[in-house]
Amino acid sequence: MIYEPIDTTIEKLGEATIPSPAGYEYYTKDSAVVLYKAIFDNPEEVNDYHAAKPTFFEQAGPREKIYFDPQWVTAGIVTCGGLSPGINDVVRAVFMELHYRYKVERVLGFKYGYEGLTRKHGHKPILLTHEIVSDIHNDGGSILSSSRGGQDPAEIVDFLIENGIKILFTIGGDGTLKGTRAIHDEIKKRGKKISVIGIPKTIDNDINMIQKTFGFSTAFSKALEAIKCAHVEATGAPNGIGMVKLMGRHSGFITVNAALASKEVNFVLIPEQDFDLEGEGAFLPILKQRILKRKHALIIVAEGAGQKFFENNDMTDASGNKKLGDIGVFLKAKINEYFRKENIAINLKYIDPSYMIRSVPANAEDSVFCGFLAQNAVHAGMAGKTNMVVGIWNNVFTHVPIDVAVAKRKVLDPKASYLWRAVLSSTGQPNSMIARE
Ligand code: F6P
Repeated sequence: MIYEPIDTTIEKLGEATIPSPAGYEYYTKDSAVVLYKAIFDNPEEVNDYHAAKPTFFEQAGPREKIYFDPQWVTAGIVTCGGLSPGINDVVRAVFMELHYRYKVERVLGFKYGYEGLTRKHGHKPILLTHEIVSDIHNDGGSILSSSRGGQDPAEIVDFLIENGIKILFTIGGDGTLKGTRAIHDEIKKRGKKISVIGIPKTIDNDINMIQKTFGFSTAFSKALEAIKCAHVEATGAPNGIGMVKLMGRHSGFITVNAALASKEVNFVLIPEQDFDLEGEGAFLPILKQRILKRKHALIIVAEGAGQKFFENNDMTDASGNKKLGDIGVFLKAKINEYFRKENIAINLKYIDPSYMIRSVPANAEDSVFCGFLAQNAVHAGMAGKTNMVVGIWNNVFTHVPIDVAVAKRKVLDPKASYLWRAVLSSTGQPNSMIARE
């Protein structure tokens, strides 16, 4: 097997020569790495992998020597894109680590995403203090608010320079990271020594080569409330069908994990797995069999599933995401129409919890995770790393070049993923719901 190495080199602003004031018992060496591939079919493959130039990530963690002298550092934090549980945990932890460990005095919070990094929008930065951030983790949303869409990198870099920013922390997903890279490129063009560090936020958990993003765990756990209600409705009426639509534009991770946690779900529809509606072996006839046999059914569908049923449009949102057809509303109509034609009375209840799964505070797991991501982001920034995002791989915190993180979206592979296999076992739905010719 040929292994194509991926360039995961992390850019540095210069040599780190200043002893860290963080006062930790031990530090992570700059040479410490995490191998990308850890699972092989047989020992020969391990040898092949090691013989090739294996892909690995730089390990995250505090460095003994840092690049920036803390007394001259002003750091900035900006939160962009859709909300996600845990943003405030991250803002708090970035501030606390900078302030108490590294003795950085000035941390600015920029309002409304990248808008807050331009003069023209006029959003005044907030000077963060212990008092301002100490309780914010108890609330959903972002104390800095957010916005979608990029701004002119030249304007942003002017603004960073005016505000004396040495390290900018950007909290966001794919679109945000592309914006961060554009800011980095502009900084580099001007020969400035400003570090930009991303922190991976998206409930969709779809960032390339990052095991998990923050907010994902809370979002799919919160989705369970809607799924439970849909199940109660489905079992509470003759031929009851409960259907829940969940977020997940390109990836079904929220939907799949919520289904696995619920254990009541009978059909899981995700963007990564094609399905047909009618014809032998397709979704609606299989749903009919289920209703005839069991008298109730529970369906969860990711918002990006079944987009082939909609006319292609080229419309995108401010983050450059394609505007999706509403698969929940579409399926509701199709299911009702199909059973009407089949002369079977059903009771279909459709729930779209929508933003309710992402505007809540982080659960305990996400809250802990946010703290680690934020602390590691601070360590990376103080060490002079740049153009990177903090990640996690094989349960170890990593540094991932932004180019690698935005190269493609992480999706679930229904042919190879243990998650999808577990969904098939849990739901009993067939491997394929494509109509047979
Ligand atoms: O990008 C994350 C996400 O939660 C997606 O799952 C969803 O499609 C999108 O945000 C919706 O957000 P908004 O309505 O703010 O664009």
